[in-house]
Amino acid sequence: MCGIVGYVGGQEAWPIIYEGLRRLEYRGYDSAGIVIVGPQGAIQLRKTVGKVDGLDEDGAGPHPSGTIGLGHTRWATHGRPSYENAHPHTDCQQRIAVVHNGIVENYLELKRRLMDAGHEFGSETDSEVLTHLVEEGMDRGLSFQEAFRRMGRMVKGSQAISAVLQGDSAEICALRLGHAGGIVVAQAEGQAIIGSDLPALLPILQTKSNMGQVGFLESGEMVVVTRGGVEYQDLEGNHIDKQPRMVSQEEVLVDKAGYRHFMLKEIMEQPQAVASAMRERVDFETRRVDLPDFPFSAQEIAELDRVMLIGCGTSLNAARVGRHLVERYSGLPAEAESASEFRYRNPYIGPRTLVVSIGQSGETADTVAAMQMVKDKGGKLVNICNSEGSQASRIADGNLYMRAGIEIGVASTKTFMASLTILNLLAIFLGQSRGVLDTAKTQEMVDGLAQAPRLIGDLLADAAVYRHLAQEYVGFDNFLFLGRGINAPIASEGALKLKEISYVHAEGYPAGEMKHGPIALIDDAMATVALAPKDSLYDKVVNNVKEVKARDGQVLAVLTEGDTELAADVDHVLYIPEAPEHLIPLLITVPLQLLAYHIALLRDRDVDQPRNLAKSVTVE
Ligand code: AGP
Repeated sequence: MCGIVGYVGGQEAWPIIYEGLRRLEYRGYDSAGIVIVGPQGAIQLRKTVGKVDGLDEDGAGPHPSGTIGLGHTRWATHGRPSYENAHPHTDCQQRIAVVHNGIVENYLELKRRLMDAGHEFGSETDSEVLTHLVEEGMDRGLSFQEAFRRMGRMVKGSQAISAVLQGDSAEICALRLGHAGGIVVAQAEGQAIIGSDLPALLPILQTKSNMGQVGFLESGEMVVVTRGGVEYQDLEGNHIDKQPRMVSQEEVLVDKAGYRHFMLKEIMEQPQAVASAMRERVDFETRRVDLPDFPFSAQEIAELDRVMLIGCGTSLNAARVGRHLVERYSGLPAEAESASEFRYRNPYIGPRTLVVSIGQSGETADTVAAMQMVKDKGGKLVNICNSEGSQASRIADGNLYMRAGIEIGVASTKTFMASLTILNLLAIFLGQSRGVLDTAKTQEMVDGLAQAPRLIGDLLADAAVYRHLAQEYVGFDNFLFLGRGINAPIASEGALKLKEISYVHAEGYPAGEMKHGPIALIDDAMATVALAPKDSLYDKVVNNVKEVKARDGQVLAVLTEGDTELAADVDHVLYIPEAPEHLIPLLITVPLQLLAYHIALLRDRDVDQPRNLAKSVTVE
C-alpha cells in the first residue's frame, strides 16, 4: 500500500531515500515525505502532497543534509491526501519521526488516551498515534528501541512501521505486524537500507556484483539498523537469528527498457509471459501438461468434487475465465467469486474442494484472508501468484508461479495473461488426470497453447491500429463492454483497464444480460465494445450487436479475421486471428489493453500510476 525506505550509512541519505521512494511509488502516491537526521542530530522534515518528485520542486531549497533518514510514499486510508497527513509524523517535541504502512485498528482508543494525557495531534491519520506512543515510552524512561517495541506490542492490525530518533544514535527501527506490509533489509560495508519492497534496496544492492543478501521480516519481528550492522529481534527484545536470502537482479531491477510507460512495456512482454508460464509445465513433444508444482496427488485429484476460484480486480476476471476452463475441460463443477465477498460468506469447503486463489502480488488483503479461511476449513488450496515469498504463497498448499517478472504498472496486464495461461494448464492437467480429456483433445489444446506467444506477438505489432481507434473513441464518456461465456470476464477486464487508467466510465456486461436493463443506456453517445469472436456463442453475440445498432449505438467489435459479415454492420473493427476457444480470451485481451492505453494517453492520464489506486491493496 504505502512505501517505506530508510537509510543509515556514510553517504548523503536524501538521494538514496528519494530514489527508493520513486521505485516504490507503485504502492501509492497520494503524498510523500522524507526525514533526515542532520549532522547536529536535528530532525529535518520535507513533505509534499502528490508524488515523490514534488519533494524536489523549484523553491524547495537544498536537500536536508545527513547520513540517516526515512522516507514514505502514501496511499491514503485514514485522512485525505494533505500535507498534514503526509508521513513522516513527528512527536510533540520533534524528537521522533515515524513512517507507517497499513492500518492501526485500535488507533481511536489509543488516540483518545494519548490526547487525555496531553499529546497534541496534527493529522487525521491513524499513523500519528505510533509516534506519540514511542514518545510516551521514552518519556517514561525507556530507550528508543524499548519504546519502539512497546509501541509494537500495543497496536492492533496488519502493518509495517519504521522510526528514527533525533541525536547521534544513528539507528533506525522497523517492525512488521501481520501480513499487510513487508520490510526488507540489506546491508553493505558501513551502511544499511530498509524498504517495503526489493526495488527500494537497489542503491545498496547494485554496489554488489551479484545483487545480495536480503533479510525479510516476518510478522512480530523487528530490525534495528545502524552503520555497524543489522540486528533482528522479536517484540520482547530477544535476538532472532535470521538467515538472509540471496535475491536476483531480476527481482530488484526495474526499468522501462525504452518504453514510454511500464504498462506498455509489460503489455509488450506478454508473449514471453505466456511462454514463461508454460516453461517446464508443457511437454511439447508428448503434447501433455504436467504441473510438477501442483501440490496434490493423483488420488487426491481423483477425489476432488468441486473447484472454487477466487481473486480481486483483474485477478477476479482471470478467476472467472478459469471457471469456464475448469468446468469445460476437467469435468469438475467450478465457481468463481470475488475474494472480498467469499471471505464473508460461510461457503462449504471440505477436503475434496480445490480452491484456486489468484493474485499478482500475493498480498491482497481480501484474497489472503479468504485463503486463510479455506485453510481453516480444511480445503485444498493452490495459489496462482507472481510473487514468490508473498503472504499468499506461504498460506497455500502449493504455488503455480506466474514467472511474469515484476509488474510495475498499477494496471495489471502481463500477469493477467500469465494467469490465463496457467488456468488453461490447470484445466488441462485436471482433465488429463481425471481421464476426462482424451489424448487427442489434450494434444489439440497443447498445440493451441504453443501458438499463443506468436499470435499475441502478432497482435502487438499492430500499434498504429489501436492508436487510430483510440482517436475515434477518446471523445466517448461511457462505454459498455459486452461478451458472452468465457469472454464475458474479458469484457469486464476490458472495462476495468479503461476505467482505471483513463477515468472513463466503462462497464463490462454479459452480452445476454444487456436486454435486461443496460439497453436503456444505448444511444449515439454510448460506445459499445462487443467481443464477437467466432466461437460457440458467436450467433448469440451477433444478435446482441444488432440490438445495439438498432438503437443508434456506436459499436467497436472485436472479431475473428475474415468475419466481413458482422464487420459490415458495426462502426469499427479490431481483429484477432482464428484460434481455438481456450485461447480466445488471451487474444482478445491484447486489443482491449492497447485501446485503453491509447485512450488514456490521449486523455493525458498517468498511465502507470492512475489516481486513487495502488499496486497491492493490503487493506480490506
Ligand atoms: C488491476 O489492473 C488492478 N489494479 C487491480 O484490480 C488488481 O488486479 C487487484 O487489486 C488485485 O491485485 P492482485 O492480483 O495483486 O491480488
